[in-house]
Amino acid sequence: MKQLENQIAVVTGAGRGIGRAIALKFAAEGADVVCVSRTAENSEKVAAEVRALGRRAWAYAVDVASGESVNAAAEKILAELGRVDILVNNAGVTRDGLLMRMTDADWDTVLNTNLKGAFNVTRAFSRAVLKQRAGRVINITSVIGLIGNAGQCNYAASKAGLIGFTQSAAREFAARGVTVNAIAPGFTETDMTAELKPELKEQVLKQIPLGSFGKAEDIAHAAVFLASPGARYVTGQVLAVDGGMVM
Ligand SMILES: NC(=O)c1ccc[n+]([C@@H]2O[C@H](COP(=O)([O-])OP(=O)(O)OC[C@H]3O[C@@H](n4cnc5c(N)ncnc54)[C@H](OP(=O)(O)O)[C@@H]3O)[C@@H](O)[C@H]2O)c1
Repeated sequence: MKQLENQIAVVTGAGRGIGRAIALKFAAEGADVVCVSRTAENSEKVAAEVRALGRRAWAYAVDVASGESVNAAAEKILAELGRVDILVNNAGVTRDGLLMRMTDADWDTVLNTNLKGAFNVTRAFSRAVLKQRAGRVINITSVIGLIGNAGQCNYAASKAGLIGFTQSAAREFAARGVTVNAIAPGFTETDMTAELKPELKEQVLKQIPLGSFGKAEDIAHAAVFLASPGARYVTGQVLAVDGGMVM
């Protein structure tokens, strides 16, 4: 028996990288997947990949930072599918720069996407999920939210905020049997990290006890676990998937 047989999952940022890997791994485990990303082209491509695995899929182009757009999409999704069992708040961006020179726009874009986006999406589905008295919320934070990083005060604040959000929502939703957990990926090979300078990558590699960068599939395996029946007694936790970088 597959671990997520006939579950319906919404995955934000499903168009590429970690979100795409989660969407595909969920489908391989028997789930149907609503793929949400900024651009229609990317979410549609991944939805087609999910269908090729024999599961149902829907593609949405939504900016998670916009509460209005998220509410409209959630209404449509719930009207069409009737329920959502798993919510993965994975959409995220970086706008790195030293604090002294950071613009309001770079701060706001990162906080509004990474933190408010998770709030917008969770809020939009919360009534339906709580009514079901079963469900899983998985928030993709980062090791940077645990230890900070020079040049990423906006990103670190958004990801640390997401941990507080996870713990608070876990306490709120627990009485209804809905768990809320976070995954903190370390350095994972995706478009987000592809642009980093080779010197910086070498420096990061030295801090990873397991001696290599993570793959998007490593994060997807952890998401499957947190969504699976085996994790029914796990809530409010942050699971680092980082090769031992933070311990
Ligand atoms: N890669 C790492 O090393 C690493 C480490 C720790 C944590 N993380 C976290 O893991 C998550 C995924 O990262 P990734 O490396 O897979 O990133 P990625 O390859 O850059 O993909 C990001 C995805 O998020 C979507 N997205 C961005 N802004 C959005 C918005 N406003 N509304 C809706 N969708 C939006 C993008 O949509 P489009 O495809 O349409 O552009 C894309 O599908 C992020 O939250 C990131 O912070 C990554």
